[in-house]
Amino acid sequence: MDLQSIKNRFNIIGNSPELNYALQVAVQVANTDLTVLIIGDSGVGKEAFSSIIHSLSSRKHNPFIAVNCGAIPEGTIDSELFGHEKGSFTGAVDARKGYFETVNGGTIFLDEIGEMPLGTQARLLRVLEAGEYIRVGSSKVQKTDVRVIAATNKDLLKLVEQNKFREDLYYRLSTVPIRVPSLSSRKEDIVLLFRKFAADFADKYKTPSVQLDEEAKSLLLEYPWPGNIRELKNIAEQISVLSENKQISAKALSRYLQPYSSNRLPAISQAQPQNEFQNEREILYKLFFDMKKDVNELKRMFLEVLQNPSVAAQNPSLINELKDLNNGHESGYLPAPATTYQPVQLSMPQPAAPVIMDNTIDEHEEVDESLNIMEKEKELIIKALKKHKGKRKDASLDLGISERTLYRKLKEYDIEEL
Ligand SMILES: Nc1ncnc2c1ncn2[C@@H]1O[C@H](COP(=O)(O)OP(=O)(O)O)[C@@H](O)[C@H]1O
Ligand SMILES: [Mg+2]
Repeated sequence: MDLQSIKNRFNIIGNSPELNYALQVAVQVANTDLTVLIIGDSGVGKEAFSSIIHSLSSRKHNPFIAVNCGAIPEGTIDSELFGHEKGSFTGAVDARKGYFETVNGGTIFLDEIGEMPLGTQARLLRVLEAGEYIRVGSSKVQKTDVRVIAATNKDLLKLVEQNKFREDLYYRLSTVPIRVPSLSSRKEDIVLLFRKFAADFADKYKTPSVQLDEEAKSLLLEYPWPGNIRELKNIAEQISVLSENKQISAKALSRYLQPYSSNRLPAISQAQPQNEFQNEREILYKLFFDMKKDVNELKRMFLEVLQNPSVAAQNPSLINELKDLNNGHESGYLPAPATTYQPVQLSMPQPAAPVIMDNTIDEHEEVDESLNIMEKEKELIIKALKKHKGKRKDASLDLGISERTLYRKLKEYDIEEL
């Protein structure tokens, strides 16, 4: 089968030699039952590769499932993959089949394999070597015939050195490694990809396709694309939806790109207002920062008062109030009372502290908006999920946290799937 027809069939855009080579290996290995390890940065198309391999294999009519090892909490991953018996742990009210049972005869894509806990790695190794597994809480050995395709954006050998990844599993998995190149190393494909995505979104949203002018094209090449094709696709979609002018200049384009340092186009990348979401995050940071400053100021005043016996004697109730205020902070996010402050640091400007203090701790000065960090975090998470249409991977990238952390927080805050 020639590469171009594969690309057409699976909507793979690009012509760079590394991409072609990776595709060629995928095609060659598809119809064997060999385990494949797909290596590449986030968003380069690893999952796309895994489904190409499955679709070109003799297992194509059997199930294919993609499992993100990074998004499943450590406590449940064994049970998800291998199943469990009734009562094998608290909450296991019923027995449950794992993926290695339900996907029997098909292919499992284990994404972010570097995040797999060591215990699970041992179970996986047994499946790969002997086709055997045991449900959690059972002693019965079961057989399975599942092809494993794994992917990682980590350097697994480094994880092996750090004893976070089993060496035997690493060698077992990497029988056939496929390296999917990052976008910055296949610049010749960037404009092609953008054009394709812009055409697709124009179709989807029934608008004329956006067109980049020459300068915008060079900006596209200049940009480092940390999120690779996924990021390029998101940006193409945002521009297609939001830009009224369908002719896109470099200046217009730069509004959609994350800030980055570039020697050639510093003004464009830094001076532009960022998107609304980014701005909001910055406002929050500033708010937290200001709060922290206020608290430090309060602490200095507190100590000043305590250092001055005459002030303390005249204002016993104030001292109590201050003590309460300080105790309240011990359990929260804010720094604990500054018992390590030295008197020498306490050169407070006049006027005397008590008067200011009375005002500062006045409850009515509170801003209407809630400043609770957890509430804000929840809001941001919901916002990110909405923005990325429920795609956790993209939302977590935007939030700057790992997908696993996002998963935990969804549970913690009781956020339903969007
Ligand atoms: N060569 C390509 N041409 C067109 N779209 C691609 C290509 N490679 C990946 N994509 C798209 O980019 C997005 C990210 O790909 P994905 O396989 O999820 O990346 P990864 O698993 O490496 O993080 C998907 O929407 C996918 O369809
Ligand atoms: Mg992926």
